[in-house]
Amino acid sequence: MSKVLVAYASRLGGTRGIAEAIGAGLGKRGHEAVVKTVTDVSKVDEFDAVVLGSGVFANHWHKPALEFARRHEAALTARPIWLFSSGPVGNITNPGPLADPKEVAALRERLRPRDHQIFWGALDRAALDRSDLGTISRFVSRRFIPEGDWRDWPAIDAWAEVISNSLPLGAAAAV
Ligand SMILES: Cc1cc2nc3c(=O)[nH]c(=O)nc-3n(C[C@H](O)[C@H](O)[C@H](O)COP(=O)(O)O)c2cc1C
Repeated sequence: MSKVLVAYASRLGGTRGIAEAIGAGLGKRGHEAVVKTVTDVSKVDEFDAVVLGSGVFANHWHKPALEFARRHEAALTARPIWLFSSGPVGNITNPGPLADPKEVAALRERLRPRDHQIFWGALDRAALDRSDLGTISRFVSRRFIPEGDWRDWPAIDAWAEVISNSLPLGAAAAV
């Protein structure tokens, strides 16, 4: 069994659901997964591996996720890490390959993740009122961002399986 931190940054809740599903996918495959917002994590030393994800606004990862990556860079590069972005929303037929959010190239350089996955996201307009979004983002969200849930749970679980398969299931190596 591996102890895995699934750390996420979510402004409106879409990414939180993905992080929870990844945690559940790891848990049902015999690992111990701890799912937390990036701001609730003080240390990553106790974990064997880390999954780090962020929602994407205006093609950028959320700042707390980037701060987390910077703050814990040494510990993150010392263990297996996977990244995910919770991105596009809407009914787009044949979207083609999805472009990485702006910061992902630098994160790949610095953290050397095993993988970076983009998952379709969700927007619940009711969550806007409880959110910390500023006036402009609220306006953009109401006007231009389609409401709905495009999260692909089978694809998310399949990715959790890939992660699970590359982590040791037995007792941590004694050597
Ligand atoms: C203001 C706003 C801007 C967004 N900009 C983008 C974007 O540039 N690219 C993208 O793929 N998705 C974009 N989205 C969709 C979000 O990434 C998607 O809703 C995601 O699931 C949000 O995650 P969060 O609520 O956990 O932060 C945007 C959503 C909002 C509300």
